[in-house]
Amino acid sequence: MSIPIIRTLADLRKTVAVWRHDGLRVAVVPTMGALHEGHLSLVRAALERADRVIVTLFVNPKQFNSPADLAAYPRTEHEDAAKLAPLGAHVLYAPHSFEMYPEGFATTVSVADVSEGLCGAYRPGHFDGVATVVAKLFLQTGADLAFFGEKDFQQLHVVRRMARDLDIPIEIVACPTVREEDGLAMSSRNARLSPSQRQDAPKLAAILLNAAARIAGGAPVDPTLDEARSAIAAAGYARIEYLELRAEEDLAPMDTFDRPGRLLVAAWLGETRLIDNVGIPARPEAITRAAA
Ligand code: PAF
Repeated sequence: MSIPIIRTLADLRKTVAVWRHDGLRVAVVPTMGALHEGHLSLVRAALERADRVIVTLFVNPKQFNSPADLAAYPRTEHEDAAKLAPLGAHVLYAPHSFEMYPEGFATTVSVADVSEGLCGAYRPGHFDGVATVVAKLFLQTGADLAFFGEKDFQQLHVVRRMARDLDIPIEIVACPTVREEDGLAMSSRNARLSPSQRQDAPKLAAILLNAAARIAGGAPVDPTLDEARSAIAAAGYARIEYLELRAEEDLAPMDTFDRPGRLLVAAWLGETRLIDNVGIPARPEAITRAAA
């Protein structure tokens, strides 16, 4: 069993045109490869909602902050294709780099507001790179639905706003973060952790969940986040870039818990930058207690 691999935009358009002619519903799952269970869960979700699923694989140079990081990014197309085939995904679109950025390419899609702060503050230009490549993938595939993981929660907001602002007729479907048994959010970066770092890594998710539960239970936001920062440092994370409570709906900063929120964190374990987030749905009693 294998999955067809398409390398050119012309071939992709021909394939999608046949599906469209047959009245089929098309989904896209954008990836940079190095597929893990988190990606595969997006593909399974896409297969439930669409008749045809295109998985894209493109290591997008525009979203990397350093050439070394781009060079170090794992390229495992053969293994990725082998993981997708048994799921029943229909096409792997792995375009040549000149299909995405031909000579003279001069356009950048830049989404203000939701790209600012959080990862945007530490990775200048990153979300412009993401918005540009994802806009192209939406337009190239012409998909009805696109699937993204909540693990990259700010990216999800950037992509949603971009599609809305540019009137791209696509439904963005958010899928829950997939975690290892010990709670660590799945990420291709986890492979970079040493065995002892791998043991410490899940403490981040545990601290985040604990802080989220306390805020939901009425604990004041700022002191709870301060305590969580100390716990993250004590767990071996050398540098915390941010730990913030933001509004679920629009990522606006929140200093009191008065509507559904997301607790988002980025921190470094040795040379590896990990991000994670958890939702805090606003329960009426939590809001009442927080306001008291
Ligand atoms: O989340 C990712 O893997 C990438 O940012 C994406 C959405 C495939 C764009 O390159």
